[in-house]
Amino acid sequence: MMRYFIAANWKMNKTVNETKDFIESFIPMVKDVTDIDLVIAPPFTSLDAASRALKGSNIELAAQNTFWEEKGAYTGEISPLMVVDAGCRHVIIGHSERRQYFSEDDVIVNRKIKAAKRTGLGIIFCIGESLEEREAGKAFDVIKRQIEMGLAEVSADNLVVAYEPIWAIGTGKTATSDQAQWAHAFIRNILGNLYGNKAESIRIIYGGSVTPDNVDSLMAGRDVNGALVGGASLKSESFARIVRFKKET
Ligand code: PGA
Repeated sequence: MMRYFIAANWKMNKTVNETKDFIESFIPMVKDVTDIDLVIAPPFTSLDAASRALKGSNIELAAQNTFWEEKGAYTGEISPLMVVDAGCRHVIIGHSERRQYFSEDDVIVNRKIKAAKRTGLGIIFCIGESLEEREAGKAFDVIKRQIEMGLAEVSADNLVVAYEPIWAIGTGKTATSDQAQWAHAFIRNILGNLYGNKAESIRIIYGGSVTPDNVDSLMAGRDVNGALVGGASLKSESFARIVRFKKET
């Protein structure tokens, strides 16, 4: 059985003090959870404080983004090396909000993944189609292109793929467990073309309005290996309930 991977993506939320408060209340709620990889991705400004607060716990730290260069004249950017230095083990790359608001295309996403991998960071690679693309019957073409371009010349190790249909992010609309399983099986198939047998051990996690109410059914799919949670990860009780999902059979 593959270990589930559940990550909180806080986006542009929480000050340093709010981060510390969350972690202080969250650690005891999940301290007995040993069979799931637990990850929190706070904003850059909270990474250092979060890293200190998480020390000795079963929760790892992720950054929400990194640049593709190691250092230099790139005002406002943060390099993979810097987030490693701040205590991160993972980084989210290719989130749809980065693609939408910061014009990150598949080529940029690929450069960022390669640079982050060189530092040993685990990659949480986000893909997913928009409502428009889905309605035009292009969802699978878009997902295929995002994977093939995003993962060009990228090895399969230390890689988690997050399927986040854009129409489900922050909208309260969730894919049904069948829709999620279909998409995940399709993704696994494409990963199989790239990586052969190794594709079987890549975690494919679901994101988009995951809540305590729908997580049990979403996690039921054979190829659904965890969740990337935005809004519902901002409160410790809610995120702890998601972590303690009861897979429906
Ligand atoms: P959401 O965000 O859970 O608020 O829909 C998920 C994500 O964008 O990672």
